[in-house]
Amino acid sequence: MKIDKICCIGAGYVGGPTMSVIAQKNPQIQVTVVDLNHERIAAWNDADLNKLPIYEPGLDKVVAEARNRNLFFSTDVEKAIDEADMIFISVNTPTKTYGKGKGQAADLKYIELCARQIAAIAKSDKIVVEKSTLPVRTAEALKSILDHTGNGVNFHVLSNPEFLAEGTAIQDLQKPDRILIGGENQEAIQALVDIYGAWVPTDRIITTNLWSSELSKLVANAFLAQRVSSINAISELCEVTGANVDEVARAIGMDSRIGSKFLRASVGFGGSCFQKDILNLVYIARSYNLYEVADYWEQVIMMNNHQKDRFADNIIKTLYNTVNGKNITLLGWAFKKDTNDTRESAAIYVADHLLDEEAFITVYDPKVTAEQIYKDLDYLGTRSPAENRRLVKVVNSPYQACEQAHAIAILTEWDEFKAYNWQQIYDKVFKPAFLFDGRGVLDGQQLMMQGFTIYGIGRC
Ligand code: UDX
Ligand code: ADP
Repeated sequence: MKIDKICCIGAGYVGGPTMSVIAQKNPQIQVTVVDLNHERIAAWNDADLNKLPIYEPGLDKVVAEARNRNLFFSTDVEKAIDEADMIFISVNTPTKTYGKGKGQAADLKYIELCARQIAAIAKSDKIVVEKSTLPVRTAEALKSILDHTGNGVNFHVLSNPEFLAEGTAIQDLQKPDRILIGGENQEAIQALVDIYGAWVPTDRIITTNLWSSELSKLVANAFLAQRVSSINAISELCEVTGANVDEVARAIGMDSRIGSKFLRASVGFGGSCFQKDILNLVYIARSYNLYEVADYWEQVIMMNNHQKDRFADNIIKTLYNTVNGKNITLLGWAFKKDTNDTRESAAIYVADHLLDEEAFITVYDPKVTAEQIYKDLDYLGTRSPAENRRLVKVVNSPYQACEQAHAIAILTEWDEFKAYNWQQIYDKVFKPAFLFDGRGVLDGQQLMMQGFTIYGIGRC
């Protein structure tokens, strides 16, 4: 099967960067990324590369190289589907907010819509690739819709889960640890192997059956999230025993069986994948009556929620048991550094908790817009949008953000926070100058000498 044209449905955090790199490395293939969201597509097409809809280091260079050569962004979904030999589905699959599986199962309505649209339009054989994170056995549902509603053409469904991490997406795509392709039809699998083979060594391209591929994605994220919850659980123990969590992480991480990565204690993991994927795993396990398995993995999320709560509670406790009417500055809103993505960010939940206690909040994040911050808070539905706007101020300067603060909390590990003139900040805040480092990014010793009272996770 020769692939001349690729279409990708969904121009988000997954579809955008992945297709940009596929197009960069395969100049002979025409890659068209489509989305229903006109604004998003316009931003992908903006001549000013600073206006791309997602912030990802190195993405601008890749887009500059391939865009309008063999990489196109369009809202004409039908045309792109019709012309393509291979179609990637990279639409969002949020956790269900209604009905059966509410709060746990993935909402597949966008995926199903795509499948129906592909089936209705396709007049020639197509390879359909699942790129979005999906529950196990979604490929089966996809194939069923395609085969039963199509125009009699052949569809081959492949699972090709994305392992890129935001903030390092381009690096992860250009030098992946592995590419995973699940499928049944060898020719279709080979067609996708050849696309990645343009830059990925063949021993890094793994092929499996569909279900193993789908499940591996959930399991990889569950294991990663489990490591964060494990070290976060230990951080609480460190705080009461006098141990230092960084020292513990270093000591255990040097054991090659454990490894040193993903042992950074924090205010809690966020992002669009970890929680959603574990909830999916839990939901699948429960649906097969595997209650112990479900409870085991659910605990990873419970620990994460506890970590966010206890961080906010600690601010309240330290500020003499009340933050009512006090100014709390949050530095960082993104779920990690080097991205403008805020999905499931710990900052949202910490802010919500403090707002419940009637604090005034000022936020500064180098890449997240005020509009997004209000949207995140409104989405929780804890209080009215008007109330969120009355209590929360978003500013463009960290120094302005810290003016007259009763406490400062670091919620994202942005590098620039380390380079601030903390003496200048100290002079602007109410004393005692409380600083809560939820990411372990600052030099606690140095700041203590400058007069700050520091609370660091996992340090007493
Ligand atoms: C994750 C997976 O890493 C990626 O393979 C998958 O495709 C999508 O989900 P992502 O969510 O983009 O990627 O970021 P990741 O670097 O995994 O971080 C997730 C969260 O865990 C962040 O909030 C991060 O701050 C937190 N984290 C990570 C920690 O708190 N401590 C750590 O040691 C590592
Ligand atoms: P992810 O992190 O998985 O990439 P995003 O929410 O960033 O998720 O991106 C998913 C994109 O998919 C959104 O821009 C959304 O508009 C788009 N989308 C969802 N359903 C469809 C559809 N049926 N056709 C085209 N685009 C879609």
